[in-house]
Amino acid sequence: MKFGGGDVHKILYDVTKQEWDVIQNLTKKIVVENLREGEILLDVGCGYGAVCEVLEPEVKYLGVDIDQDMLELACKRNPNREFLKANVAVDLKDYPNNYFGVGLVRSVVSAFECGSILESAQEELSRVCRVVIRQEYTRRKYEIVGSRTWK
Ligand SMILES: C[S@@+](CC[C@H](N)C(=O)[O-])C[C@H]1O[C@@H](n2cnc3c(N)ncnc32)[C@H](O)[C@@H]1O
Repeated sequence: MKFGGGDVHKILYDVTKQEWDVIQNLTKKIVVENLREGEILLDVGCGYGAVCEVLEPEVKYLGVDIDQDMLELACKRNPNREFLKANVAVDLKDYPNNYFGVGLVRSVVSAFECGSILESAQEELSRVCRVVIRQEYTRRKYEIVGSRTWK
């Protein structure tokens, strides 16, 4: 079975097609407006790699997630993209300062807060990325509450 157009998101997160399109379009806008030519996009807590669906093929990308199952799905759905199993609070130490252009933190911060790692994740992401942008939508309504920079 081939999933497309938000089907996976609908199954995993109970979001409507219309809400999903708004979320994806905002993500695309964030990337286009902030990622400079040649820079790498770091997709923080990439899940199944949904962000890849809105990227132009020439955009350099690394998706990182702590969850092996999500990463396997991400690799399967996006065979031309690179993914890494990592806890962003502790596993990015080998990357130099500003190695990535934009760190996109999309709907991940609530997971950080549960694990009390928000501060270290924020500190490490601010170090390895030129700019960190958070895009959040609430779990209940999937309302986009906006994006803002961390750095
Ligand atoms: C709600 S999902 C969002 C997925 C994706 N950003 C999106 O918008 O489609 C949150 C993801 O963050 C990941 N995550 C949570 N804590 C993490 C951490 N410390 N390091 C890396 N990934 C993490 C989870 O495994 C999950 O896949």
